[in-house]
Amino acid sequence: MSQAPLEPRSRVFVSRSLAGLGAPDPLLPLRESCDVEVWSGSSPPRSADLVGWARGHQGLLCLLTDRIDEAFIEACPDLRVISSMSVGVDHIDLDAAGSRGIPVGHTPGVLAETTADLAFGLLLAAARRIPEADRFVRGGQWTHAHRWDPDMLLGRDVHGAVLGVIGLGAIGQAVAARARGFGMQVLAWTRSGRGASGVESVALDELLRRSDFVSVHVALTPETSGLLGADEIAACKPGAVLINAARGGLVDEVALAEALASGHLFAAALDVFADEPLASDSPLRQAPNLVLSPHIGSASIATRRRMAALAVENLLAGLRGDPLPHRAR
Ligand code: DGY
Repeated sequence: MSQAPLEPRSRVFVSRSLAGLGAPDPLLPLRESCDVEVWSGSSPPRSADLVGWARGHQGLLCLLTDRIDEAFIEACPDLRVISSMSVGVDHIDLDAAGSRGIPVGHTPGVLAETTADLAFGLLLAAARRIPEADRFVRGGQWTHAHRWDPDMLLGRDVHGAVLGVIGLGAIGQAVAARARGFGMQVLAWTRSGRGASGVESVALDELLRRSDFVSVHVALTPETSGLLGADEIAACKPGAVLINAARGGLVDEVALAEALASGHLFAAALDVFADEPLASDSPLRQAPNLVLSPHIGSASIATRRRMAALAVENLLAGLRGDPLPHRAR
Protein backbone atom coordinates (compact mmCIF):
# COMPACT_ATOMS: atom_id res chain seq x y z
CA MET A 1 0.00 0.00 0.00
CA SER A 2 1.55 3.32 -0.98
CA GLN A 3 1.70 5.88 1.81
CA ALA A 4 2.00 9.66 1.76
CA PRO A 5 5.62 10.73 1.22
CA LEU A 6 7.53 11.71 4.33
CA GLU A 7 7.89 15.50 4.46
CA PRO A 8 10.52 16.74 4.91
CA ARG A 9 12.25 13.80 3.27
CA SER A 10 14.16 11.73 5.81
CA ARG A 11 17.69 10.58 5.14
CA VAL A 12 18.20 6.84 5.23
CA PHE A 13 21.41 4.85 5.10
CA VAL A 14 21.33 1.27 3.85
CA SER A 15 24.42 -0.65 4.85
CA ARG A 16 24.57 -2.96 1.81
CA SER A 17 23.33 -3.05 -1.73
CA LEU A 18 20.24 -5.23 -2.14
CA ALA A 19 20.56 -5.21 -5.93
CA GLY A 20 21.43 -8.92 -5.89
CA LEU A 21 17.87 -9.68 -4.76
CA GLY A 22 16.66 -8.79 -8.24
CA ALA A 23 13.91 -6.58 -9.64
CA PRO A 24 11.85 -4.75 -8.64
CA ASP A 25 14.24 -2.83 -6.42
CA PRO A 26 13.40 -3.84 -2.81
CA LEU A 27 14.29 -0.30 -1.72
CA LEU A 28 11.76 1.34 -4.06
CA PRO A 29 9.19 2.20 -1.33
CA LEU A 30 12.00 3.82 0.61
CA ARG A 31 13.32 5.78 -2.35
CA GLU A 32 9.81 7.14 -3.04
CA SER A 33 9.69 9.02 0.25
CA CYS A 34 13.24 9.30 1.57
CA ASP A 35 16.71 10.27 0.44
CA VAL A 36 18.44 6.92 0.37
CA GLU A 37 22.17 6.32 0.45
CA VAL A 38 23.42 2.78 -0.04
CA TRP A 39 26.85 1.48 0.97
CA SER A 40 28.58 0.81 -2.32
CA GLY A 41 31.12 -1.77 -1.16
CA SER A 42 30.55 -5.43 -1.93
CA SER A 43 31.60 -6.42 1.59
CA PRO A 44 30.25 -5.01 4.86
CA PRO A 45 31.44 -1.56 5.92
CA ARG A 46 34.00 -1.56 8.72
CA SER A 47 32.66 -0.08 11.96
CA ALA A 48 34.40 3.27 11.41
CA ASP A 49 33.00 3.52 7.88
CA LEU A 50 29.54 2.58 9.05
CA VAL A 51 29.50 5.36 11.66
CA GLY A 52 30.90 7.84 9.19
CA TRP A 53 28.24 7.06 6.62
CA ALA A 54 25.27 6.61 8.95
CA ARG A 55 25.86 9.84 10.89
CA GLY A 56 23.37 12.51 9.87
CA HIS A 57 20.75 9.98 8.75
CA GLN A 58 17.42 9.47 10.48
CA GLY A 59 16.95 5.89 9.38
CA LEU A 60 19.36 2.97 9.24
CA LEU A 61 18.67 -0.27 7.39
CA CYS A 62 21.38 -2.67 8.52
CA LEU A 63 22.34 -6.32 8.31
CA LEU A 64 23.48 -8.84 10.90
CA THR A 65 27.09 -8.15 9.88
CA ASP A 66 26.87 -4.58 11.23
CA ARG A 67 27.79 -4.06 14.87
CA ILE A 68 25.37 -1.48 16.18
CA ASP A 69 26.74 -0.88 19.66
CA GLU A 70 26.39 1.93 22.14
CA ALA A 71 29.29 3.90 20.64
CA PHE A 72 27.67 3.72 17.19
CA ILE A 73 24.31 4.85 18.53
CA GLU A 74 25.90 7.73 20.45
CA ALA A 75 27.77 8.81 17.33
CA CYS A 76 24.53 8.98 15.32
CA PRO A 77 22.30 11.37 17.31
CA ASP A 78 19.89 11.93 14.40
CA LEU A 79 18.85 8.28 14.21
CA ARG A 80 15.11 7.77 14.76
CA VAL A 81 14.84 4.13 13.75
CA ILE A 82 17.09 1.13 13.18
CA SER A 83 15.77 -1.65 10.99
CA SER A 84 17.73 -4.86 10.62
CA MET A 85 17.15 -7.21 7.71
CA SER A 86 17.41 -10.19 10.05
CA VAL A 87 15.35 -11.89 12.69
CA GLY A 88 18.30 -12.10 15.08
CA VAL A 89 19.29 -8.80 16.68
CA ASP A 90 22.28 -9.91 18.74
CA HIS A 91 24.41 -7.49 16.69
CA ILE A 92 22.45 -4.52 18.06
CA ASP A 93 22.67 -3.07 21.56
CA LEU A 94 18.93 -2.97 22.20
CA ASP A 95 19.36 -1.33 25.60
CA ALA A 96 21.41 1.52 24.15
CA ALA A 97 18.85 2.04 21.37
CA GLY A 98 15.94 1.79 23.83
CA SER A 99 17.44 4.29 26.24
CA ARG A 100 17.60 6.84 23.42
CA GLY A 101 14.04 6.06 22.31
CA ILE A 102 15.17 4.48 19.02
CA PRO A 103 12.94 1.57 18.01
CA VAL A 104 14.68 -1.45 16.47
CA GLY A 105 12.91 -3.47 13.79
CA HIS A 106 13.62 -7.03 12.69
CA THR A 107 12.13 -9.62 10.33
CA PRO A 108 10.51 -12.51 12.20
CA GLY A 109 8.13 -15.02 10.61
CA VAL A 110 9.13 -14.64 6.97
CA LEU A 111 12.28 -16.76 7.20
CA ALA A 112 11.13 -19.57 9.49
CA GLU A 113 10.23 -22.14 6.82
CA THR A 114 13.30 -21.40 4.70
CA THR A 115 15.61 -21.69 7.69
CA ALA A 116 13.88 -24.89 8.76
CA ASP A 117 14.46 -26.31 5.25
CA LEU A 118 18.18 -25.62 5.63
CA ALA A 119 18.35 -27.01 9.17
CA PHE A 120 16.63 -30.19 8.06
CA GLY A 121 18.83 -30.40 4.98
CA LEU A 122 21.88 -30.17 7.23
CA LEU A 123 20.44 -32.88 9.46
CA LEU A 124 20.02 -35.21 6.48
CA ALA A 125 23.43 -34.28 5.08
CA ALA A 126 25.17 -35.02 8.40
CA ALA A 127 23.21 -38.21 9.09
CA ARG A 128 23.80 -39.68 5.64
CA ARG A 129 27.27 -38.13 5.13
CA ILE A 130 26.22 -36.54 1.86
CA PRO A 131 29.06 -33.96 1.58
CA GLU A 132 31.58 -36.69 2.41
CA ALA A 133 30.03 -38.92 -0.25
CA ASP A 134 30.31 -36.08 -2.76
CA ARG A 135 34.01 -35.63 -1.89
CA PHE A 136 34.47 -39.40 -2.15
CA VAL A 137 33.19 -39.49 -5.72
CA ARG A 138 34.92 -36.31 -6.90
CA GLY A 139 38.18 -37.28 -5.17
CA GLY A 140 38.43 -40.50 -7.19
CA GLN A 141 37.89 -42.86 -4.24
CA TRP A 142 34.88 -44.49 -5.87
CA THR A 143 36.74 -47.14 -7.81
CA HIS A 144 36.02 -50.59 -9.19
CA ALA A 145 37.67 -52.03 -6.10
CA HIS A 146 35.16 -50.09 -4.01
CA ARG A 147 32.16 -50.10 -6.27
CA TRP A 148 29.70 -51.06 -3.52
CA ASP A 149 31.14 -51.99 -0.17
CA PRO A 150 28.76 -53.20 2.53
CA ASP A 151 30.28 -50.71 4.95
CA MET A 152 30.90 -47.80 2.60
CA LEU A 153 29.91 -44.38 3.99
CA LEU A 154 27.50 -45.77 6.54
CA GLY A 155 25.30 -43.16 8.16
CA ARG A 156 22.44 -42.94 10.60
CA ASP A 157 18.76 -43.43 9.90
CA VAL A 158 16.67 -40.31 10.24
CA HIS A 159 13.28 -42.02 10.06
CA GLY A 160 12.26 -43.47 13.39
CA ALA A 161 14.97 -41.54 15.27
CA VAL A 162 14.42 -39.08 18.13
CA LEU A 163 14.91 -35.39 17.38
CA GLY A 164 15.42 -32.94 20.23
CA VAL A 165 14.48 -29.39 19.27
CA ILE A 166 15.95 -26.69 21.50
CA GLY A 167 13.66 -23.66 21.24
CA LEU A 168 10.14 -23.87 19.89
CA GLY A 169 9.77 -20.53 18.15
CA ALA A 170 8.62 -20.41 14.54
CA ILE A 171 11.80 -22.05 13.23
CA GLY A 172 11.90 -24.77 15.90
CA GLN A 173 8.26 -25.60 15.21
CA ALA A 174 8.86 -25.71 11.46
CA VAL A 175 11.78 -28.13 11.99
CA ALA A 176 9.58 -30.26 14.27
CA ALA A 177 6.91 -30.42 11.55
CA ARG A 178 9.46 -31.62 9.00
CA ALA A 179 10.77 -34.21 11.47
CA ARG A 180 7.28 -35.62 12.04
CA GLY A 181 6.93 -35.96 8.27
CA PHE A 182 10.08 -38.09 8.33
CA GLY A 183 8.59 -40.34 11.01
CA MET A 184 10.79 -38.98 13.80
CA GLN A 185 9.76 -38.71 17.43
CA VAL A 186 10.14 -35.08 18.49
CA LEU A 187 11.18 -33.84 21.94
CA ALA A 188 11.51 -30.16 22.70
CA TRP A 189 12.87 -27.91 25.37
CA THR A 190 12.16 -24.20 25.65
CA ARG A 191 13.18 -21.79 28.36
CA SER A 192 9.56 -20.65 28.63
CA GLY A 193 8.19 -24.20 28.92
CA ARG A 194 6.13 -23.65 25.74
CA GLY A 195 4.84 -26.82 24.07
CA ALA A 196 3.50 -27.65 20.62
CA SER A 197 1.25 -30.36 19.32
CA GLY A 198 2.99 -33.58 18.35
CA VAL A 199 6.02 -32.62 20.44
CA GLU A 200 6.96 -33.96 23.88
CA SER A 201 8.20 -31.19 26.17
CA VAL A 202 11.10 -32.32 28.33
CA ALA A 203 13.89 -30.84 30.45
CA LEU A 204 17.09 -29.96 28.61
CA ASP A 205 19.13 -32.76 30.23
CA GLU A 206 16.47 -35.32 29.28
CA LEU A 207 16.40 -34.01 25.71
CA LEU A 208 20.17 -34.33 25.41
CA ARG A 209 20.16 -37.81 26.93
CA ARG A 210 17.38 -39.18 24.70
CA SER A 211 17.89 -37.46 21.34
CA ASP A 212 19.60 -39.05 18.34
CA PHE A 213 19.57 -35.62 16.69
CA VAL A 214 19.64 -32.27 18.47
CA SER A 215 18.75 -29.09 16.59
CA VAL A 216 19.23 -25.66 18.15
CA HIS A 217 16.69 -22.87 17.49
CA VAL A 218 16.95 -20.20 20.16
CA ALA A 219 17.97 -16.57 19.84
CA LEU A 220 21.42 -15.63 21.09
CA THR A 221 20.96 -13.54 24.24
CA PRO A 222 23.04 -13.17 27.40
CA GLU A 223 20.86 -15.96 28.88
CA THR A 224 21.36 -18.43 26.03
CA SER A 225 25.01 -17.70 25.22
CA GLY A 226 27.00 -20.93 25.64
CA LEU A 227 23.79 -22.93 26.15
CA LEU A 228 25.45 -26.06 24.80
CA GLY A 229 28.79 -26.01 26.59
CA ALA A 230 31.21 -28.87 27.22
CA ASP A 231 28.94 -30.39 29.91
CA GLU A 232 25.85 -30.34 27.72
CA ILE A 233 27.75 -31.79 24.76
CA ALA A 234 29.11 -34.53 27.03
CA ALA A 235 25.53 -35.18 28.19
CA CYS A 236 24.37 -35.86 24.60
CA LYS A 237 23.51 -39.43 23.75
CA PRO A 238 26.64 -41.16 22.39
CA GLY A 239 26.49 -41.17 18.61
CA ALA A 240 24.12 -38.20 18.44
CA VAL A 241 24.16 -35.61 15.66
CA LEU A 242 24.09 -31.89 16.51
CA ILE A 243 22.68 -29.23 14.18
CA ASN A 244 23.02 -25.48 14.70
CA ALA A 245 21.44 -23.06 12.24
CA ALA A 246 20.65 -20.44 14.90
CA ARG A 247 23.69 -18.58 16.24
CA GLY A 248 27.28 -19.67 16.79
CA GLY A 249 27.56 -18.37 20.34
CA LEU A 250 25.04 -20.97 21.50
CA VAL A 251 27.43 -23.91 21.10
CA ASP A 252 30.96 -24.34 22.50
CA GLU A 253 32.92 -24.94 19.30
CA VAL A 254 36.04 -26.33 21.00
CA ALA A 255 33.98 -28.87 22.96
CA LEU A 256 32.11 -29.74 19.79
CA ALA A 257 35.32 -30.31 17.82
CA GLU A 258 36.56 -32.58 20.62
CA ALA A 259 33.30 -34.53 20.76
CA LEU A 260 33.47 -35.07 17.00
CA ALA A 261 37.12 -36.13 17.12
CA SER A 262 36.55 -38.56 20.00
CA GLY A 263 33.52 -40.07 18.31
CA HIS A 264 31.21 -39.14 21.17
CA LEU A 265 29.09 -37.38 18.54
CA PHE A 266 28.56 -39.19 15.25
CA ALA A 267 28.40 -35.95 13.31
CA ALA A 268 27.36 -32.31 13.40
CA ALA A 269 26.28 -29.63 10.99
CA LEU A 270 26.79 -25.92 11.51
CA ASP A 271 25.48 -22.98 9.53
CA VAL A 272 26.56 -20.43 12.12
CA PHE A 273 29.74 -19.77 14.08
CA ALA A 274 30.89 -17.72 17.04
CA ASP A 275 33.06 -15.73 14.64
CA GLU A 276 32.05 -15.48 11.02
CA PRO A 277 33.60 -16.27 8.65
CA LEU A 278 35.01 -19.39 10.29
CA ALA A 279 38.72 -18.86 11.04
CA SER A 280 41.10 -20.69 8.73
CA ASP A 281 42.73 -22.36 11.76
CA SER A 282 39.47 -23.37 13.47
CA PRO A 283 39.67 -27.00 14.68
CA LEU A 284 36.18 -27.42 13.23
CA ARG A 285 37.67 -27.37 9.73
CA GLN A 286 39.57 -30.59 10.46
CA ALA A 287 36.50 -32.64 11.42
CA PRO A 288 35.41 -34.86 8.52
CA ASN A 289 32.12 -35.69 10.23
CA LEU A 290 31.07 -32.04 10.29
CA VAL A 291 28.98 -30.38 7.60
CA LEU A 292 29.72 -26.67 7.24
CA SER A 293 27.73 -23.94 5.52
CA PRO A 294 28.25 -20.15 5.56
CA HIS A 295 25.17 -18.80 7.42
CA ILE A 296 22.72 -19.43 4.59
CA GLY A 297 19.64 -20.39 6.64
CA SER A 298 17.42 -17.73 5.09
CA ALA A 299 19.17 -17.66 1.72
CA SER A 300 16.39 -18.18 -0.79
CA ILE A 301 15.51 -15.41 -3.22
CA ALA A 302 11.89 -15.23 -2.11
CA THR A 303 12.75 -15.14 1.57
CA ARG A 304 15.50 -12.57 1.27
CA ARG A 305 13.07 -10.37 -0.68
CA ARG A 306 10.45 -10.80 2.05
CA MET A 307 13.03 -9.89 4.68
CA ALA A 308 14.00 -6.78 2.72
CA ALA A 309 10.34 -5.77 2.34
CA LEU A 310 9.73 -6.15 6.07
CA ALA A 311 12.88 -4.21 6.92
CA VAL A 312 11.70 -1.38 4.65
CA GLU A 313 8.22 -1.44 6.25
CA ASN A 314 9.74 -1.22 9.72
CA LEU A 315 11.97 1.64 8.67
CA LEU A 316 9.16 3.66 7.10
CA ALA A 317 6.93 3.15 10.12
CA GLY A 318 9.69 4.33 12.45
CA LEU A 319 10.35 7.43 10.35
CA ARG A 320 6.66 8.28 10.46
CA GLY A 321 6.66 7.85 14.22
CA ASP A 322 4.29 4.88 13.93
CA PRO A 323 4.74 1.61 15.87
CA LEU A 324 7.01 -0.76 13.93
CA PRO A 325 5.15 -3.76 12.48
CA HIS A 326 7.97 -5.94 13.88
CA ARG A 327 9.80 -4.37 16.74
CA ALA A 328 12.62 -6.37 18.31
CA ARG A 329 11.91 -4.95 21.73
C1 DGY B 1 18.64 -13.89 10.80
O1 DGY B 1 17.85 -13.22 10.12
O2 DGY B 1 18.91 -13.61 11.97
C2 DGY B 1 19.25 -15.08 10.16
O3 DGY B 1 20.32 -15.56 10.87
C3 DGY B 1 19.62 -14.77 8.72
O4 DGY B 1 19.69 -15.98 8.05
